[in-house]
Amino acid sequence: MLGGLYKKTTYLNEYRKTEKNLVVVDSGDLLNEHTQIKESFIATAKLKGELITKIQKNIGIDAINVGELELALGLDYIKDIEKKYDVPFVSANIVNDKKELVFKPYVIKNIDNIKVGIIGIMGTTPDVVKPFEEIVGSTLSVLDPIETVTAKVAELRDKVDFVIVLTHQHMGRNWIIARKINGVDVIVGGHHKQKLETPYEANNTYIVQAGEKGQHQGMLVIEKAADGTKTVTNKLVSMSDKIADDPKVKGMIDEYNMEVNKLYTSGPIVKDEAVTLRSASCNDCHSDAYEIWQKTDHAKAFQTLINKDRQFNPDCLVCHTTRFEEAGGFTMKAQEKELRNVQCESCHGDKTEHLNDPSVVSQAKPGVETCLRCHTEHRCPDFEKEYQKEWEQIKH
Ligand code: HEC
Ligand code: HEC
Ligand code: HEC
Ligand code: HEC
Repeated sequence: MLGGLYKKTTYLNEYRKTEKNLVVVDSGDLLNEHTQIKESFIATAKLKGELITKIQKNIGIDAINVGELELALGLDYIKDIEKKYDVPFVSANIVNDKKELVFKPYVIKNIDNIKVGIIGIMGTTPDVVKPFEEIVGSTLSVLDPIETVTAKVAELRDKVDFVIVLTHQHMGRNWIIARKINGVDVIVGGHHKQKLETPYEANNTYIVQAGEKGQHQGMLVIEKAADGTKTVTNKLVSMSDKIADDPKVKGMIDEYNMEVNKLYTSGPIVKDEAVTLRSASCNDCHSDAYEIWQKTDHAKAFQTLINKDRQFNPDCLVCHTTRFEEAGGFTMKAQEKELRNVQCESCHGDKTEHLNDPSVVSQAKPGVETCLRCHTEHRCPDFEKEYQKEWEQIKH
């Protein structure tokens, strides 16, 4: 996700050089990726949420709809962030236990003399309600989206030239809003991970959605004639390596990594080169295996994350370190350097006992199921079928 933000910044900065009337919005689930955040990840997740906010502010985002994943970091957190960075969060139907709105229902932007109203909506379809309730319990609830949009569009009608609704719900409900409510120009969908190259159209409302994880930037161009008819083009721009990384964002990410580092390392900072990996303790008696292992990709799995600026991301560390968050394994909190990479004990299990008494041997011959914990079906689809070939590459 962070990778996409480097590119998005470059792309939009470039775009703004020629096009002044750009509105940048997000339909939610922007600041965080998980419903449940483990205790040991909370501090990092909060810093990361803040980092993403800073990058979005730097991009010049006009409105961010509040998705359930924003709330997973706590309502207080999100309200603090809103204030600290003046973030344009919108939600017209998330209310507290007194039925009061928790966020601004909409923002009005004056873009090149066109007034644009942007409304935020949380959906009520089961795919959204379930995680929402898991996260907020009974502290917050959601008002009916259709009634809310109807009311807010009526409120905005005389004040703006253009109405955008950011939604967080199943695509089918976007159709209902488009069909039932007059005066909505564009619906930008979210939560549901659909990618729409050609916008849907109903009742002169255009529905767009740009997939997930910031892999694409949706660029919708609308020209509205005096009589209300619209000319519309849309493209999904892939935030691929073809677009250069933005140096300012790189600076922000470096700063974030330093802050996370401070969070996890107390005492003197040991230089990476001076760290003895846990595997070295096996070298005395299994030097053949050790030498082979050192040449495999497993031995550089952590460097791979450093190269991508992800060395503090639990989502990556889980497979690129040794025995992540298991007893005696690599933990988020301690960031033990000696347990970086996929070392012997990733496959052979905790060898503390064996080191005291070599005759105690467990997990001598790990099977393919050990590999599949990291070489998942999703990531390495043919791994099980090709097991012999894979094993040959690391055989020791
Ligand atoms: C002091 C020497 C010594 C050290 C250090 C040592 N081992 Fe061993 N290891 C042995 C001996 C001896 C055996 C054979 C034990 C037996 O079969 O009774 C063995 C067996 C094994 C086996 C099973 C091999 C088989 O075919 O049964 C594995 C796996 C293993 N060690 C992994 C490790 C790992 C991983 C480390 C480092 C964390 C390590 N060993 C450190 C001496 C050592
Ligand atoms: C703890 C997670 C983990 C386990 C368990 C694991 N791997 Fe890996 N493996 C990785 C990671 C991460 C990489 C990529 C390292 C890099 O390039 O940074 C990798 C890379 C590889 C590669 C080279 C990359 C490629 O082209 O496919 C081979 C071969 C491989 N693993 C085989 C195995 C086998 C065989 C097993 C089981 C005996 C196994 N791995 C178990 C995490 C794991
Ligand atoms: C479920 C385990 C798992 C997770 C989670 C995981 N990786 Fe990996 N990663 C692997 C395995 C296995 C490989 C080697 C096989 C392959 O290349 O697909 C690998 C390979 C890679 C490679 C390619 C190495 C190369 O240069 O050939 C990169 C880059 C990488 N991972 C980065 C990441 C990042 C960044 C994250 C977090 C967003 C991450 N990984 C999360 C298991 C994982
Ligand atoms: C990616 C997983 C993985 C890693 C990392 C790994 N091993 Fe193994 N190792 C295996 C598998 C799988 C086997 C057994 C395969 C078989 O024979 O069925 C094995 C076998 C062994 C054996 C027995 C060899 C024999 O011929 O009897 C020893 C000893 C051993 N490993 C030590 C180590 C040491 C030491 C390290 C670290 C330097 C290490 N392994 C790293 C997966 C791994």
